[in-house]
Amino acid sequence: MDAKSITITKPDDWHVHLRDGEMLKQIAGYTARQFGRAIIMPNLATPVTTVAMAAAYRDRILKATQDYSRFQPLMTAYLTDTIDVQELVNGHKEGVFTAAKLYPANATTNSAAGVSDIKKIYPVLEAMQKIGMPLLVHGEVVSHEIDIFDREAVFIEQIMEPLLKDMPELKVVFEHITTQDAADFVESQSNHMAATITVHHLQINRNDMLVGGIKPHLYCLPVAKREQHRLALRKAATSGSGKFFLGTDTAPHAIGDKESACGCAGIFSAPHALENYLQVFEEEGALDQFEAFASLNGPTFYGLPVNNQKITLEKVSQQVPLMIGQKSLAISPYKADKTLSWRLKVNAKNI
Ligand code: DOR
Ligand code: ZN
Repeated sequence: MDAKSITITKPDDWHVHLRDGEMLKQIAGYTARQFGRAIIMPNLATPVTTVAMAAAYRDRILKATQDYSRFQPLMTAYLTDTIDVQELVNGHKEGVFTAAKLYPANATTNSAAGVSDIKKIYPVLEAMQKIGMPLLVHGEVVSHEIDIFDREAVFIEQIMEPLLKDMPELKVVFEHITTQDAADFVESQSNHMAATITVHHLQINRNDMLVGGIKPHLYCLPVAKREQHRLALRKAATSGSGKFFLGTDTAPHAIGDKESACGCAGIFSAPHALENYLQVFEEEGALDQFEAFASLNGPTFYGLPVNNQKITLEKVSQQVPLMIGQKSLAISPYKADKTLSWRLKVNAKNI
């Protein structure tokens, strides 16, 4: 029989871009409405590299999400070639930095200050290994000679494998995996390694982005791959393995910055993330695995308690708005103008 509603432990989003300033005010509520906690990416125009910057950013996020008073932003540090080890360790001990993010320099939006050679930050990674601070990895090489569709697979070989050999106890999240290679690799590793999977990589392949006209709103990094990889990700997410959990990588850009001669990478999936993920689990006949993926595996990996609230999604159709936000900051949300078959029930209790 078809399910009409599903109630699960309140989920968390383990990979979110909330931006800053007016954009933060405009979009933060969408994440806070759906999730108990979110791992906040540090790739602001000025990267979040100090405890003070992260604490101040956290305050701005709390202000922007005050309608959802239980929402908890979990902050991350942006690793650079020259990041101060002691700052990172102190930030983790003080409970400000939940994790640290590794962007290979120039891999994606606001990553120019990222790491140019992983060996340069080995002392930092060793300290993180010692204190059990998770490393969150944007896993793509940036060399010009490597085809964009191969960058994740090559990263595994050139960077991830050697890193895990050198630091077998380091907790690593392979963020937003997009390939069968990454799913197989993560599954084959110890329980120090896990991966987040976005909803768009479970739902779209590169044809959706490129056939019948280019769809800039489906362009993100790592870029969507061929169908075989999408199917492998769906299998991994719904397999029941504790190594895979929810991370939307929701990344808003104003419409003008996406529909441009040099369009920005990022998909704004926050408004209906849960509805879309649930659709995938339903299609895969795996509704019974949804709670583990959305609400349990993440906290277990991070060593945090699961949320004590519940949420309910109902089989009620809804239409995604064509646009969200105001004037020059208006955004085209993921699945704009499409009809979804599930709807999150929001009531005072889960705020
Ligand atoms: O598509 C993406 N957008 N991938 C990233 O890695 C960064 C993000 C952003 O910040 O816009
Ligand atoms: Zn991201």
